[in-house]
Parts: sequence; structure tokens; C-alpha cells
Amino acid sequence: MAGPQRWTRPELMELLDIRGGLSRQELYDRADAVRRERMGDAVPLRGIVEFSNICANDCLYCGIRATNANIPRYRLDDAVILDLARGMEGQGQTTIVLQSGEAPSRDGDAALGRLVSRLKAETRLAVTLSVGNRPREVYAHWRDCGMDRYLLRFETSDPALFARLHPDCTLSQRLRCLGDLLDLGVQTGGGFMTGLPGETLSTGADNILLCRDLDLDMIGLGPYIPHPDTPMGQSQNVHVLDPERHFVALAATRLVNPDAHIPATTAFDALFPGTGRNLALTRGANVFMPSATPVARRPEYQLYPGKPCLDETGEACARCVLGRLAALGRQVDQGPGHSRKPGRAVSGEGAVGRGN
Ligand code: 5AD
Ligand code: FES
Repeated sequence: MAGPQRWTRPELMELLDIRGGLSRQELYDRADAVRRERMGDAVPLRGIVEFSNICANDCLYCGIRATNANIPRYRLDDAVILDLARGMEGQGQTTIVLQSGEAPSRDGDAALGRLVSRLKAETRLAVTLSVGNRPREVYAHWRDCGMDRYLLRFETSDPALFARLHPDCTLSQRLRCLGDLLDLGVQTGGGFMTGLPGETLSTGADNILLCRDLDLDMIGLGPYIPHPDTPMGQSQNVHVLDPERHFVALAATRLVNPDAHIPATTAFDALFPGTGRNLALTRGANVFMPSATPVARRPEYQLYPGKPCLDETGEACARCVLGRLAALGRQVDQGPGHSRKPGRAVSGEGAVGRGN
């Protein structure tokens, strides 16, 4: 039997440059077939709680950047988060994703470790954190508290573009964090935005190859959307005239990373209201992340405009996702939704580690 195709950059650039409607549909169908064969039809549901919008960084594209004075800053109490987690369990979700701005502090990081321990003790949920760059010791501590997974997008594989977008961080620091997480045995997600101003076709190909070379367990990607209250408010997405290209990138990411969990991210719904995430689930994505962030806080966590579900409660999103899956003939995954990478199977519910 022939081994899996080892994609090269030129091949991938050619794939990303597909223009014809028919051949794009062929690419989507291929990605969907690979998704079905490797990840199955069951969709893991990971409820996301955006628990704080406090951020020390000033990423040029992001609506919750430190110097955006137009939003009130919040942090949810642990009691509220624990309540949301119990609600998720009742709705068939098996992972809680805790995301916030990047605001490292000794006390805050210790408090987050205690919250992870409580979530593991009081619920059966797998716990994913997504709170930015930290020293290896902090990641190790959170893992010891029971953290199962971590999400940290590298945003772009182009070091010079990364530097222009991130005054507080370099690509090599970001990759150091991802390397630490993988090395610590934490199931690790990375990913990128598609159509960032200044990216080229070869950046797009390299983004996908970097996911493969890092051997990520999870890959989050979605269109870059200009936010008016940022320095990039007037910087259009490079695919503005051909937004289908975001789906082409998604489908290509599935072909090159057949065993990775790939969520249908909310930015697809922002660009294609009401349909984006459903289409993503038929073009390579296999995971859905319903929002459980309290409605009153949702406008304050607008990383980009047009984020969906602004007025929907956690229950509404949980119900909505069931309708979406039913319409697509897919089911809710009953399992914990751990990494599917060969050799990294984890044993037991909520078990930590990538397979060691
Ligand atoms: N458009 C699209 N995605 C964005 N993110 C942040 N700002 C934007 C934007 N303006 C994404 C980044 C980050 C994730 C949490 O949200 O990729 O990693
Ligand atoms: Fe939130 Fe549909 S997913 S309302």
C-alpha cells in the first residue's frame, strides 16, 4: 500500500490556488472523505468559556488588545465558571475550553491551576486552556493540576509578518511554547489566521506544513477579520474578493493533517453568517465549539466584529449545534474527544498525556 502523500510547498501552493468551482468542490469532497475516514462522523463538542478579556498584549489585529479602551474588562468568578461547566455536562459536551487574553501573573496563574483542579474533581469534563505564552514551568504546573489540552495558535508561519503583528512576542517564542507543551505530553493545538494582510500563497502553504511538522493534535484556523478599534481596522483580508479561499485553506489543512482535530471556528460564521461553520464541517472540520460565555460578556469579547451568537445563551448555542449536526447527518461524539494521533491514544476518562 502506498504511504500517505508527503506534500511539498509547491504542491500545496498549487492546491491553495485552485480557482475553478468544480475543482474546489472536488477538493472539499476529498477533505470531507479524509475527515470521515480518519475522524469519523461523530463531532466532539467543546464548550468555550471566554472567562476574561484582560490582556497585557497589543496584537495589532485583536479587539481585546490592551490599548483598546472601548471595552470594559472582566474576569468571571470561579463559581460562575464551575456552574457553566456543570451545565455543559448536562448538554452532552465533554470538554470545557477556558480562553482569555494573555495576562500572566503569579497569582492569576496559580488561581487558574486551582480552578483546573476543581473542574477535574467536580466534573468529568476534559479541560483545555487557551491563555497565551507562558514559561514551561507554568504549563507543567497546569498539567499537574489536570489540564488535558492547550490551544495556542502561531497565527502565521512568516516570522517577519508575525513580528509586525505582535509587538510583544516573536514567532520563535510562540514556537518555543508549543514545543514545551508537546514535550510535556499536553495535547496541543496550534493554528493560524487565513488572509492576513501581507501573507502570500507560500505563507499559506507554510502555515499548513508547520502544523504538520509540529505534529499538532488540534488545528484551529479561520479568516482574519478587520476590527475597527485596532490599528488594522482598514487592512482588508487578502481574500476579500474571493472568500471561498478560506475554505480551500481549511480543506487543504485536512488533507495534510488527516488525524488532527480541526474545529469549525466561529470566524467562518462571521464571514458566512449562519452557514460558515456548517460548511466548515463538510470541508474538513470535525469539531464544534459552542459558546458558553455569559451573554452579558459576549460583546466584551469581540476579537473581531460579526462574531456569531452575540445574543444566544449557552443553552441556545447547545441546542443550535444539535440542529446543525442533525441537518448534516452527523452525531455528537459521546467520548472525551482526546487526540486521535496514532500512538497517542490516552487511556481512561479525562486521562492526561499524549500517550506516555
Ligand atoms: N480576526 C480573526 N481572528 C482573530 N483572532 C484574534 N483577532 C482576530 C481577528 N481580527 C483569533 C486569533 C487568536 C484567536 C483566539 O482568535 O487567531 O489566536
Ligand atoms: Fe450559537 Fe448557533 S451556535 S446560536
